[in-house]
Amino acid sequence: MSAPALTPALPRGPAKPRLLSVEDAKALDVQEMADLFKAHINPGQFHFMKLLGFHKVKVERAEGMFYIDQNGRRILDFFGGFGSLAFGHNHPRILEARRRFQEEKRHEIAIAFLSQYASALARNLALVSPGDLDMVFLGSSGSEAMEAAIKVAERASGRRNCKFVHAENSFHGKTKGVLSLTDSTLYQGEFKLVGNSYKVPFGDLPALERLLRSDPEIGVVVLETIQGGAGIVTAPTAYWQGVRRLCDELKVVWVADEVQCGFGRSGRFYAFEHHGVVPDVTALAKSFGGGKAAMAAMIARRDIYMRAYGTPKTAMIHAHATFGGIGEGCVTSIEAMNTLYDEDLIGNSQDVGTYLLERLQEIAARYPTIVKEVRGQGLMVGLEFHDFSRTLPLALRPMVAILDEKLKGSLSGFVGALLLRDHDVLVAFTEYNRNVIRLEPPLICTRENVDQFCVALDTLLGRGIVSIVKDFVKSQLG
Ligand SMILES: Cc1ncc(COP(=O)(O)O)c(C=O)c1O
Repeated sequence: MSAPALTPALPRGPAKPRLLSVEDAKALDVQEMADLFKAHINPGQFHFMKLLGFHKVKVERAEGMFYIDQNGRRILDFFGGFGSLAFGHNHPRILEARRRFQEEKRHEIAIAFLSQYASALARNLALVSPGDLDMVFLGSSGSEAMEAAIKVAERASGRRNCKFVHAENSFHGKTKGVLSLTDSTLYQGEFKLVGNSYKVPFGDLPALERLLRSDPEIGVVVLETIQGGAGIVTAPTAYWQGVRRLCDELKVVWVADEVQCGFGRSGRFYAFEHHGVVPDVTALAKSFGGGKAAMAAMIARRDIYMRAYGTPKTAMIHAHATFGGIGEGCVTSIEAMNTLYDEDLIGNSQDVGTYLLERLQEIAARYPTIVKEVRGQGLMVGLEFHDFSRTLPLALRPMVAILDEKLKGSLSGFVGALLLRDHDVLVAFTEYNRNVIRLEPPLICTRENVDQFCVALDTLLGRGIVSIVKDFVKSQLG
């Protein structure tokens, strides 16, 4: 009997489209990346990347404090992904923990079975969080953690028609719930918002007190401990102690958003620890994922959590989403937390942050007509320029105006673009204050890195505003 002829199996599903492979993705050049970004991601955003010169860089690798581009250029990262890179890029300990987890073929999804990784991570968070901030919800973005925070707070507040308070120039994320507490007409646009929140000036205790006493339906106050999007704005200890006292007296739940300022960035694990107070609910994200994983957490005081979701009947109202507490993400965060303490990165944030502030104060003193203020805490620093829209020579004003509405009176865009082009330094900009450059370098930052940054900034500012603006305009037109 002869063997049956072997016929290739016909595909039963659709034929494979011409998908790009991982290797294809790595091999895209800057032009191809730009074309695909404009065609499929966000053509409008490309306009800003072009203004700042970001569109010419293809990052091939990233290590420690540096991006390394297609030409081997090392770009010093003082942007730090808005505070997402406490450990720098590709910290070896974090890479190793992830590699081991993969090789051991560990499980990821923690829906059916318990996860030893999520349990251990939650325990670690409870351990480092002061007071009875013991209950943890794991998610994958700051917005998701903040959504969890405002929901647990609303339920625990006991108000039937619970109202919220948020601050002027706040940023808590862009998902629909927290968008209502994010003080930006641009981001809020024409969306139908939740609409039950009052706004108060940040740091103004009498205003907060008046408001809280005026409406007993207010059940939740939501505040960033250090405002990032506002341009690195802090409030004094007396304010935070007053917030705690008022919330205790009026039985209002205080939610501290530590998504940007938490996880060691301010020189304490949580920024509120500088003030000797403990909020009822807080949230972390960004560096919590070790710079490698999308990880976020909401941490609530146990009695708040139990009031909201403490029974079998209420337990599933806001339980983890599909990827909440995903295995490799949790392992990454566990290793990140251990590394944070083993390498004393919180102490480093204090020391090097103080050094950075001192060096910037010197620069500010040298250029009093350019630099308005330097401020911050730890490695969360803002450098504010004077608005030069009125002082710029008349001849230059129309030139600047044609570039972009947002850049008109703002030096930060020009300085940022030229720092990158001429000095291989990357800095960040600020949502609501276009005159502020935001500096949130990795917490592994050294004094030498600060020196490199400050020499670059000093050299650039030494050229004077007119030269900076002319050079920038020429680069855009050329
Ligand atoms: C203070 C604060 N809260 C919430 C968020 C939202 O985080 P995500 O972008 O991860 O959703 C951010 C993001 O920048 C933030 O700075």
